[in-house]
Formats: sequence, structure tokens, C-alpha cells
Amino acid sequence: MAEIRALIDRLERDRTLHKEEFIELLTRYTAEDFAYIREKARKTAQSIFGDKIYTRGLIEFSNYCRNDCYYCGIRRSNGEVDRYRLSKEDILKCCDIGYELGFRTYVLQGGEDGAFNDDIMTDLIVSIKEKHPDCAITLSAGELSYESYKRYFEAGADRYLLRHETANADHYAKLHPERLTLEARKKCLYDLKDIGYQVGTGFMVGSPYQTPENLAEDLLFIKEFQPEMIGIGPFLPHHQTPFADQEKGSYELTLLLIAILRLLIPNANIPSTTALGTINPRGREEGILSGANVVMPNLSPVDVRKNYELYDNKICTGDEAAECRMCLQGRMESIGYRLVNERGDFQPLI
Ligand code: SAM
Ligand code: FES
Repeated sequence: MAEIRALIDRLERDRTLHKEEFIELLTRYTAEDFAYIREKARKTAQSIFGDKIYTRGLIEFSNYCRNDCYYCGIRRSNGEVDRYRLSKEDILKCCDIGYELGFRTYVLQGGEDGAFNDDIMTDLIVSIKEKHPDCAITLSAGELSYESYKRYFEAGADRYLLRHETANADHYAKLHPERLTLEARKKCLYDLKDIGYQVGTGFMVGSPYQTPENLAEDLLFIKEFQPEMIGIGPFLPHHQTPFADQEKGSYELTLLLIAILRLLIPNANIPSTTALGTINPRGREEGILSGANVVMPNLSPVDVRKNYELYDNKICTGDEAAECRMCLQGRMESIGYRLVNERGDFQPLI
């Protein structure tokens, strides 16, 4: 059996490993190996981004969703959710507030809400770009047709986040109703790439029924797909979902996977996510110290935040946008990094 450290060195050098080797790394690492890979990942991120942390202002524009993912708190079947949609004016106001605070990327995230049809979405994108031409727009609105994705891109959207959730079709079927398939999800991801978006994908760590083999498959899929952004966070149960009684994901394993992902795709934009900050009070700092380079403070109006609860105890639901930004600024400074007011686009390695 190979030494774990030798595997880590090879991952750094070759930027990948074989499936069995990933499984070995994920299941046999020691505390020393954990510190070793995190340091390598941190240095790799620093060699590309220095002490800069990119910020994305997250606007949760709708919690209506036609889907019924078993893990998600805003799934269609959850009749307890107070549903809301932000108006165009609300969203533009969030963008204005965000601009003043230094954000140069807006992430518009929501459930799959048909009320935001192509005309409404394109008008919204054009209006944001008119007011803030120096800002990037990232969309995270689920699975749509090639034509819709193309219209949004032509209207000015720059990036799209769509986690693949799991790269194993059988596992995918355990997390989603039959209507949703891994095949359809992957088609969307390749469509987005083809159109020209910077594309983000990712998965939950410790989602129900996930095995180390599944995680190795996730890593290999990500290597093959070469996303510009990679978002991962621990699975956290929501009490009004079929997965209410499932175990939450592992904090430590999430940190390990962030480090692996940094070595797999050194220049990817990798956020230290809200879920990581929810599972541990220092999660977002430790995510950065594992090689992440992005944070996503919440810009949504405070009166709707509680209603966008994907999992229980989500943090930042009571804080104003400025408070969220200041809080993260302080957290990043405490570990020797600084938030920057830049778009933070993906840059190819030279
Ligand atoms: N509707 C869009 C989509 O499906 O991509 C965007 C919103 S969706 C709620 C955003 C992400 O939240 C999902 O990709 C999923 O990985 C994550 N998520 C949902 N429920 C979660 C949970 N219980 N724990 C951790 N992450 C969760
Ligand atoms: Fe809405 Fe999954 S239930 S994205």
C-alpha cells in the first residue's frame, strides 16, 4: 500500500490520481497527512491568488422550486416554507447596496422557479449590467434548456453554478426523484461550457448513501470536466425533508476535499461555503486555510433570508448585507488574507 504522503506529492505533481488512490487517500489519511495536504493546497492557492480573497454577493431571488430533491429545504413538497420572489426592483436594490460594499460579482441563486421565465431573466440581467457594467453576473437557477442558457449568456450573464451533486448515477437516484437524472445534469453542464460560461460544479460531502468510491468518482468527474469554479460543502439535514434524520457530513472530510480539489485544479475559484460556516464556527476560515479562495456573503434582503433555508441552522440569516461583509472581512484578516473588490474571473494558468 502506497504511503499517503507519496500520494499527496504525486497529486500535487500530476494534478490527479487513480480512483483507487483517491479512495486510499480519503480513507487512510492521518492527522499529519491532513496537515501536510492542507499546507500544500494553501501554498498552491497563495502562489496564484496571493493573499486575495474574492467575494461574491449572494442574492437568493426566489425560494419557489419545481423540484423535489430529497435533501433540500426548499423542495416543492415542503409545504411549511413561506415562499417568496424578489421583484426586479428588490434585486436591483441588492445590487446597488452590494456595489457600494465593494462587490463586483453578483450571484443570483434560486429554486427552479418558472415565474422567472426567459424574458424576465434576460431583462433582469440586462438591467443589472446597465447599472453595473463592471460587475460579473453568476446565475444559479438549476437545469434549463440550451436556448435559455444561451439567451442569458447573450444578455450578459458570465458564469453559472450547477453542482453535479454526485457523479454516480445510482447515488444520484438516491438523492433525487426519478424525474431528475445525472445524465440530464451533465448535459446542462456541458451545454453551459459550450455556450462560453465560466462553469461551477460540485457536490455535498457526506450526502446520504455516499461512499468513498463515490467521492473518488466526483473528483475524477471534476478533473475531466475542468470547471472554472468548484463548490463543495457538508450535507446538513433539514428537518422538513425526507433526509431529516440522516447524519450530517464531516467537517474534516470537507476540508480535506477542498485541499484535494485545489491540487486537482490549482487555478479554480473555490468558495469557502456557508454550509462549512454552519457546521463549524471557524469553518470559513479553515476552508481558506485548506486552499479555498472565495467567500460569498449574503446580499439578500434580511426579511426573506430565513425562508431560504436549505438546511437547518443556516448562518447569516439575521444579518444585514454590510454586517455579513464586515464579518467576513474581519475573519479573513484574522488569518492573514484580505477581501478584494475585483470581479475575480477564472484565469488560465500561464
Ligand atoms: N436550484 C439551483 C440548483 O439546483 O442548482 C440552485 C439552488 S440549490 C438549493 C443550491 C445547492 O444547495 C445545491 O446544489 C445543493 O448542493 C445545496 N444544498 C441543498 N440542500 C442542502 C443541504 N441539505 N445541505 C447542504 N447543501 C445543500
Ligand atoms: Fe430545489 Fe433541489 S429542491 S433545488
